[in-house]
Formats: sequence, C-alpha cells, structure tokens
Amino acid sequence: MKFFVDTASLDQIKEAKDLGILDGVTTNPSLMAKEGISGKQNILNHYKAICDITTGDVSAEVISTDYAGIVEEGKRLAEIAPNIVVKVPMIKEGIKAISHFTNVGIRTNCTLVFSAGQAILAAKAGATYLSPFMGRVDDITWDGVGLIAEIAEVYAIQGFDTEILAASIRSAKHIVDAAKNGADVVTCPLNAILGLLKHPLTDIGLAKFLADHKKANS
Ligand code: G3P
Repeated sequence: MKFFVDTASLDQIKEAKDLGILDGVTTNPSLMAKEGISGKQNILNHYKAICDITTGDVSAEVISTDYAGIVEEGKRLAEIAPNIVVKVPMIKEGIKAISHFTNVGIRTNCTLVFSAGQAILAAKAGATYLSPFMGRVDDITWDGVGLIAEIAEVYAIQGFDTEILAASIRSAKHIVDAAKNGADVVTCPLNAILGLLKHPLTDIGLAKFLADHKKANS
C-alpha cells in the first residue's frame, strides 16, 4: 500500500520524505488556503515546489466546475511536472473532463467520493485514482471503512484499474482499516502515519533492554 501525505505544507512533505515512507502527496483547495497560498501563479509555483521535493504523484485540484474550465486548468496543472495528477471533483462536468484527460494521457484523481456508485463512474471515466473520504463518512456516524470495502469489492469484480486512494484519514486505525479493506493508497496527515509507530509495549521493552544493558555494562 502506498503512503501519500495529505498536505500543502512543504515542511510536512519534507519530513515525510526524510522518513523514507513518502510515495506521493495530495492537496486540495482548503489545504492550499491553510498554507496561505493564493493567486494563480503562486499556486502553480507551490505545486512546482512540492514536485521538487518528491518524484511521487502529486494531486493538484482544479477549482473550475465546468467542463471547459476543468480541462483548461487541468492542462495547465499537468504542464507543471510529470508527477502532477489532476484532481477533479465527482460531478457530471468532472466525469466528462476525466474521460477527456484519460483520452489525452493526463492522469487524474477523482475526489469527494462517498459512494460505490460514484466510484464506478470514476473508474468508467478512467480515473487514475479514486478518493473516497473515509473520515468525513465516519464524522457523520456512517461507515467509512465499509465504503472502502464495498468499492474494493466492486473494483475487484469488475477488474477496474483505478487505484483506491483512501482519503480523509483521521487516525492510524483508519490506515490499518483501509489496508485491511483493499485500499491501494492512503493519504493522510503525517501525524496519522506517525501514529502507526506507537505501542506502549515497544516503549516498555526498549526501556528494559537499555536498562539491562546499562546494568550489565556499568
Ligand atoms: O484531501 C482530501 C481529503 O483527504 C480531505 O480530508 O480531513 O479534509 O476530510 P479531510
């Protein structure tokens, strides 16, 4: 399973890369705004800065919601670097644009996905990645991991090539649940990934090893 970090923070992306576990990056308009990135050229420059850090796939989301606008924006984003993946929302105009991008060889990430039905549409359009938002489903007490499992089952039955990119991850447990239920990729804040490190028995065991070593070598 691939690990993407879901952030526009260059520091967080660098930290993930230094860990040696970074396979890619996803951003969205809210994450870009959180980093204070605004203005067309600044936004393009920021995506370039991310692509200078990692050769892994970097999802850059369009703002347009009409076909012509999505296509124009997507072409401009794809020209930034070969590892740019154009992120397109699950709307009718977006599906039409993803189909176009598929035909011209531009890779895409269909985002804001919340149902298996939407996932089938995205795969039919040829999306490279599909972003079902596990966390936001759980946030309203629905079954986020069940969404991943249902999509994975449908994709396996139908032989779809679109990669399931479990998104809106809230915790290390979400990562494990996504891995157990067929996600190809998880994208999350670095803290969720670092949460995988934590276990009290590891801490207790290491402390005892070091204490025993110190005792034997003092
Ligand atoms: O970037 C897409 C998705 O990961 C957003 O997650 O935390 O805003 O629900 P979140």
